[in-house]
Amino acid sequence: MLKRPVIIDTDPGVDDTIAIMLANAHPELDIKAITPVTGNVPYKYTSENALRLVKYLEMDCPVTNGAVNPLFIKCEDAGSVHGKGGLGGYELPPSDKTFEGYAWDIIKEEAIKADGELEIITLGPLTNIAITLLRYPEIKPLIKRIVCMGGSQYDGNVTPKAEFNFWVDPDAVDIVFRSGVPIVMCGLDSTEHAYLTIDELKALQGRDTKVKELFDHIMSFMIGRREAATEDDKLQTIYDAITIAYVLDPSIGKTEKHSVLVETKGINKGWTIIDRRNRAGNPLNVEVLTWADRDKFKAMLEEMLEYYKN
Ligand code: RIB
Ligand code: CA
Repeated sequence: MLKRPVIIDTDPGVDDTIAIMLANAHPELDIKAITPVTGNVPYKYTSENALRLVKYLEMDCPVTNGAVNPLFIKCEDAGSVHGKGGLGGYELPPSDKTFEGYAWDIIKEEAIKADGELEIITLGPLTNIAITLLRYPEIKPLIKRIVCMGGSQYDGNVTPKAEFNFWVDPDAVDIVFRSGVPIVMCGLDSTEHAYLTIDELKALQGRDTKVKELFDHIMSFMIGRREAATEDDKLQTIYDAITIAYVLDPSIGKTEKHSVLVETKGINKGWTIIDRRNRAGNPLNVEVLTWADRDKFKAMLEEMLEYYKN
């Protein structure tokens, strides 16, 4: 089997957790490190959740230290969305692992070792990646691509125009998007095509797997939030897991190449501006996911639960 060296940069987070569970169920992904970043909840929770999740999933990869705050602006999180501690109130068992090194140093080392084959998958704000590219610009040609969950084609989820990951640290997005490294943007409204209904979330529960407690708790947390939501907000998108699904099987999505800029200031900070007519004459720097296949994603979640079956 051809092993693909990847780094997963993440702010666990309930959907990050399902995403890492999915990635871990696919041995073709050679996960070189999990690099936590501040995001959904403060760094002390995202980092500890990452450390404990790697232990819980019996993963054999280091968890690094990462960025505690955005590059230049105040840290704001989405604690209300991900519940106490970031995992919908679930407390993972303590890990005997310790944090190893810093995200930017490990990414540099792995990029050199992979010699052009390293894929970086980002499930949270891009702070760690921006720091890497600022500290070690020489490794840019060695990064095969950066696949981001972030941004959107049209509307935001934190402000009218900005998606959360890119809103937290828009300066980091600007640095990454101008870097020249190949980028795939799995945005909010594209991944939302692969939504799950409340009944579909419920149907995934109750399986006899090694991850039952954690998986079912997150499903219940998501179900509770959808049931409490308004009528037009009853569908659940597991954004980060759909991004991993695209990395695993690009046929799950459709993409278009565009020039994409990001607003870094003011009310629309984090807004990903897709220059469809390339009016600004910039390089077509981003492959934008425009659609995701709901049936294929559901099938991948079923396969994942099979992988973890007792
Ligand atoms: O906007 C969705 C993104 O923000 C997901 O990555 C979710 O985990 C949160 O980080
Ligand atoms: Ca996330």
